[in-house]
Amino acid sequence: MRVAVLASGHGSNLQALLDHAAAGRVQAKVTLLATDKPGCGAVVRARKAKIPAVVELPKEKGETSQAYDARLLETLQAERPDLVVLAGYMRIVGPAITGAFPGRIVNIHPSLLPGFRGLGAVAQAHAARVKVAGCTTHLVTDELDGGPILLQAALLVRDGEGLERLQQRILRLEHLLLPRTVQLFAEGRIAPDGRIAPGPSWLGLPGLDLASGAMYGEGF
Ligand code: GRF
Repeated sequence: MRVAVLASGHGSNLQALLDHAAAGRVQAKVTLLATDKPGCGAVVRARKAKIPAVVELPKEKGETSQAYDARLLETLQAERPDLVVLAGYMRIVGPAITGAFPGRIVNIHPSLLPGFRGLGAVAQAHAARVKVAGCTTHLVTDELDGGPILLQAALLVRDGEGLERLQQRILRLEHLLLPRTVQLFAEGRIAPDGRIAPGPSWLGLPGLDLASGAMYGEGF
């Protein structure tokens, strides 16, 4: 399965996907990394991993989002992806993109949606003093962080735990959830409404480190 990844930051989610694929746990090949942030960590990791296409697409001065999305769409379509993964991608993908890949764009969001949508999700949850935090993968639609939920993983927030520490622990859960979601796509088990068909489970797979105090199950 051909996967195109969009990222804007460190690229640790991209790296997790590459590592799980290299370990044979994810039957997918990342053939494109595109970013709006030239030189970001994801670009460095993509080059090191020899991803065939690494495309830096900074937004041009005065460029409308529609015009930007048209350039991004061209870049994506050139790679003919079976799945588009937003891995720490900070721009909103518009209807030109969501319309071109219906049911085939996945995002990882660092909160238990529908709670704490948008930017700074972990900071929102931390400020709200939640007892349980976590992350979600979902299909991307035109509604921000609102598409059908695919997988969620949670963890108990420790008393007095700082924001940094919580972000780190959630990020580790993301590094399980995103590759797991991509593998479910590779197995053709994800319906357009987000329902997941039964099949092989990852629970009990050797080498899957769950963050301490984390909760992840496979109810499918
Ligand atoms: C992280 O905050 C993660 O929660 C969110 O995007 C940010 C960057 O992650 N999904 P990455 O290290 O660039 O994958």
